[in-house]
Amino acid sequence: MRIISFGHALPKRSVTNQELTAFLDTTDEWIVEHTGIRSRRILSGKETVSGLGAKAAKMALTRAGLTAKDVDYILCSTTAGEMTFPATSCLIQEKLGATCPSMDLNAGCTGFLYALDMADALLSSGKAKRVLVLCAEQISRLSDWTDRSTCVLFGDAAGAALCEAGDGLKTIRLSAKGNATPLHAWPDGGNSPFLEDRQPAQPLYMNGQEIFKFAVSHSSRDIAAVMADADLTADQVDHFVLHQANLRIIEAARARLKQPTEKFPVNIHDHGNTSSACIPVLLSEMAEDGRLLRGQTLVLSAFGAGLTTGAAVLQY
Ligand code: ACO
Repeated sequence: MRIISFGHALPKRSVTNQELTAFLDTTDEWIVEHTGIRSRRILSGKETVSGLGAKAAKMALTRAGLTAKDVDYILCSTTAGEMTFPATSCLIQEKLGATCPSMDLNAGCTGFLYALDMADALLSSGKAKRVLVLCAEQISRLSDWTDRSTCVLFGDAAGAALCEAGDGLKTIRLSAKGNATPLHAWPDGGNSPFLEDRQPAQPLYMNGQEIFKFAVSHSSRDIAAVMADADLTADQVDHFVLHQANLRIIEAARARLKQPTEKFPVNIHDHGNTSSACIPVLLSEMAEDGRLLRGQTLVLSAFGAGLTTGAAVLQY
């Protein structure tokens, strides 16, 4: 599998830390110091997450000089799909005018890496010639906007990567360690008369310190493993593109690898954590401003609800 183009889309509304102080007991200084986040983009008005996904997809198609008719599979990673069903990928497919099979997958913030692995399987089995991988996220809908320790962290966004057969994906490792306790959200439990406990909807809950420790230890383990698989030293890697959950987690990985800050691109300052969209959005922005060049070697790494983790070595 190789990636031929990226795309991204962000909501119009930017919400600064200062704006959050109007209804939360927090400060700009606390958020910046503890996370690196200054503002985040939040869906507002009549914007939809499938609308963002379609915009990101069109950007990737335009950059590759292709149309929706050239895509024969759409995989969409989403943690908070627009509807319970149909799949967000189908809502996006309709907006694109594509006719190929489309489905969603949910691996929390690691969704981009899981989707790349699925795309690789479809392409290498010959079941598809071109796969559109999308990450369309609206965590603002799951957030508890009265909980200062979580709602300040997240933003909405969509990223896209158009994939075809090739040898860009050098190695990939995924993991899942089922444990809902430290990070979860519940949908409304419905009104079945047969259930004993009908769970009311519960917004996003996160034990920040536990996830922080998990992220630092597992990201380091995964990055070391994929570099060893691909027989690479850190010096040979052009960019380490890591999940944008907290600047301090990225900094811990950088310090362990003893690499310069420039090799760790970030957009967390003004996007926040956009779940599985973080990595494809960042890669699309890097392709746009010239930081990402053909032939460069990338290490990708993410972690999230599940708990899931993943890392990959990719040659662009
Ligand atoms: N403003 C002011 N004070 C705050 C805020 C806030 N926004 N949030 C928490 N605090 C307070 C706490 O209440 C606590 O106060 P107390 O000592 O009086 O109880 C104090 O700050 C310290 O809280 P900690 O939780 O220890 O703060 P920490 O430095 O650990 O930062 C954070 C919290 C930012 C959540 C951090 O733990 C973190 O980033 N964890 C990882 C999160 C992550 O990576 N998530 C990604 C996965 S999510 C996904 O996949 C969908």
